[in-house]
Amino acid sequence: MEANLFAGKRIVVGVTGSIAAFKVAGWVSDLAKEEAQVMVVMTTAAERFVTPLTFAALSGNTVHTTMFADGAAESMAHIELAREADCLLIAPASADVMAKLAAGLADDLLTTTVLAANPAAVVVCPAMNSRMYAHPATQRNLAILRQLGYAIIEPATGMMACKEEGQGRLAEWEEVKERLARRFSPQDLRGVRVLVTAGPTREAIDPARYISNRSSGKMGYAIARGAWRRGAEVVLISGPTALPPPLGVKLVKVTSAMEMHDSVLSLADDCQVVIKAAAVADFRPEVRHRHKVKKEQAADEIRLAKNPDILFTLGQCKRPGQVLIGFAAESDDLLGEGRRKLAKKNLDLIAVNDIGGSDTGFEAESNQLHLVSASGVETLPHVSKLHCAGLLLDRVVQRLTEVSPAASSRDSSA
Ligand SMILES: Cc1cc2nc3c(=O)[nH]c(=O)nc-3n(C[C@H](O)[C@H](O)[C@H](O)COP(=O)(O)O)c2cc1C
Repeated sequence: MEANLFAGKRIVVGVTGSIAAFKVAGWVSDLAKEEAQVMVVMTTAAERFVTPLTFAALSGNTVHTTMFADGAAESMAHIELAREADCLLIAPASADVMAKLAAGLADDLLTTTVLAANPAAVVVCPAMNSRMYAHPATQRNLAILRQLGYAIIEPATGMMACKEEGQGRLAEWEEVKERLARRFSPQDLRGVRVLVTAGPTREAIDPARYISNRSSGKMGYAIARGAWRRGAEVVLISGPTALPPPLGVKLVKVTSAMEMHDSVLSLADDCQVVIKAAAVADFRPEVRHRHKVKKEQAADEIRLAKNPDILFTLGQCKRPGQVLIGFAAESDDLLGEGRRKLAKKNLDLIAVNDIGGSDTGFEAESNQLHLVSASGVETLPHVSKLHCAGLLLDRVVQRLTEVSPAASSRDSSA
């Protein structure tokens, strides 16, 4: 899973008469780069903001602007577009088009196409002045669209083109794209609570200094993202990282190994799957100075105390049906270490990654995981961390089915 969720997907983008139409040109360009087949339908008002030529060039497809084009009777564009679409993305959605859709009107190509489509495939991204958005008529229309089964991606709050501040800005593409990725993912973790840990921990020496490691958190964040996309309820316990919070995930921020320990142990029992990708420091300074240690007064040595082994503790109190997965960052005897930790810590699986190379392990965008379990070793391909996460989650789904057969009845459709 997770190679390219957009490749080959047929996405109809309905552009309406909002000043935010120019932003959607970038969305269409990105979707085309992701190898989606993008068909753009524009309202007459939308053509006042961006030319069809722009969308045609970016999508590589003819842009549809009118219901009564030459040959319309033979091709029936509205039916064809609706029938073949994996998703109808209406962005930006004007107040006007939302009112029409709420009323079930079909007086142009876009509204007619939406009426001919499966409501579950329709995604609406409103964009308008904040007072237009807050107006009871717009809010009523939004409520009706939800009832009809259309997904709404709410506008963001901030400064708008009209120089007013409030809710109404078109949602950011990162969020919309992530929500589309979720729609195109199998929902085989729906209803499953997944706990993921990520990032390094920092072990304070004094208020200014700490001991830490090179973990960037990218692997754990990718797993959390991948699990959310597949319908899981995800809690991500993260040490300090520079990464943005993944959409839809409950993020708990911690700093030290002791904080990580307390958070994980308070939440793990409620979770069916626990994936520990964090690089928790094995040691902390025995003494944490209250004030910054002066250079002249510093000792030559820092005495260390051992931190608790969180994964070992989780293995000890693992309940039946729970799936416990560890990560090991190794630079030597990867598989030997993996096997030793698998047994010692009572894990279902351990993902060993090589931190000796420059394009795997810490900080890298890609990774190669060696999955060690009771049934042997499986070496996954060297791919992006999000792709690695998808492959690991495939094994999680398989394991869940083995430990609790009811899991196999989970809906696997998007
Ligand atoms: C400069 C300008 C910017 C506009 N921006 C928006 C907007 O962001 N959202 C909106 O709902 N309407 C906006 N409108 C009004 C719509 O273009 C108008 O309601 C139009 O009838 C919408 O038609 P459509 O829904 O068929 O595309 C704007 C109008 C102008 C002149």
